[in-house]
Amino acid sequence: MGDKRSQIIKALKESKGAPVSGEELGLSLGVSRTMIWKYIKSLQAAGYEIDSSPKKGYILKAVPQLLYPEEVQMGLKTTLLGKKIHYFEELSSTNNTAKQIALSEEEGTLVIAEIQKGGRGRLGREWVSPLGGIWVSIILKPGVPLRHASRLTLVAGLAVANVMRDLGLDARIKWPNDVRILERKVCGILTEAKAEVDRVDYVILGIGINVNMDLKDIPEPLREGSTTLKVELGKHVGRVAFLQDLLFELEQQYIRFKTQPFSQILNDWMALSDTIGREVKVTTPSRIIEGKAVGVTSDGALVVKKADKTTEEVIAGRCIYARTK
Ligand code: BTN
Repeated sequence: MGDKRSQIIKALKESKGAPVSGEELGLSLGVSRTMIWKYIKSLQAAGYEIDSSPKKGYILKAVPQLLYPEEVQMGLKTTLLGKKIHYFEELSSTNNTAKQIALSEEEGTLVIAEIQKGGRGRLGREWVSPLGGIWVSIILKPGVPLRHASRLTLVAGLAVANVMRDLGLDARIKWPNDVRILERKVCGILTEAKAEVDRVDYVILGIGINVNMDLKDIPEPLREGSTTLKVELGKHVGRVAFLQDLLFELEQQYIRFKTQPFSQILNDWMALSDTIGREVKVTTPSRIIEGKAVGVTSDGALVVKKADKTTEEVIAGRCIYARTK
């Protein structure tokens, strides 16, 4: 949506229910009253409830419950993340689209979709993405070697968990990238990178959060192990505000990632992880590692202490908890 439309929404929001005349809007935006009327029509078509009285002007009654860039960017406290947003009502996968545009986009650019038809999870799995969730991909260009790119998964998991904890939820992280509440998954993160020999060209952080869906929106057999913010909080959650908070927290953690020793983030991650100390079974394409999860390396690999007391590091795989702590 265009810049003029955001300026109109901003002016109507700022007037807090008092009517704003077409003439006034036209003057401040430098366009004719007829153009303003056309913009108002297109906003109404996009779901903004705007009353218009020929004498008084326009009054904003309600904004659509969608992740429109205008809504996300208004009041966004970040300096990097979300300065540019590619928005789609429906997409195959935000990560696919982000990959297509990543080289020509600035870092911090987002791809958001209300619905994904081909949402992708880790290890080639499908990611169910109906209306009501947050499906976002963030283009980052951290200029680090490829082996450090996986650290960003931990950075993102920590940021998501922190924002959920601020809502009073006991969000914990299951290695490597599931954010869960009472052992039910509420968020997944898919990190993809393109790299040269010594440094990454870009990293796509694909974050999927179950926000306002009901459990019936998640098909079996996933439903049993999944939850949504709405289910956990017992009320509808403002997705725009949540995404704004998440982008802000993620930016703080990203700055920390770039400027501080990674051990600090790792310590915070470990404190929120429910994997460490647990008996795990990690399946990779070539082997199965069983034992006690005792730590995470600085590159995000899980350290597993096996029955024979030797330890093994697993960089990626499917992790199952063998029994509860
Ligand atoms: C997982 O836990 O398996 C990772 C799920 C990642 C889902 C997100 S939704 C936004 C982005 N686009 C995708 O196709 N996948 C990621």
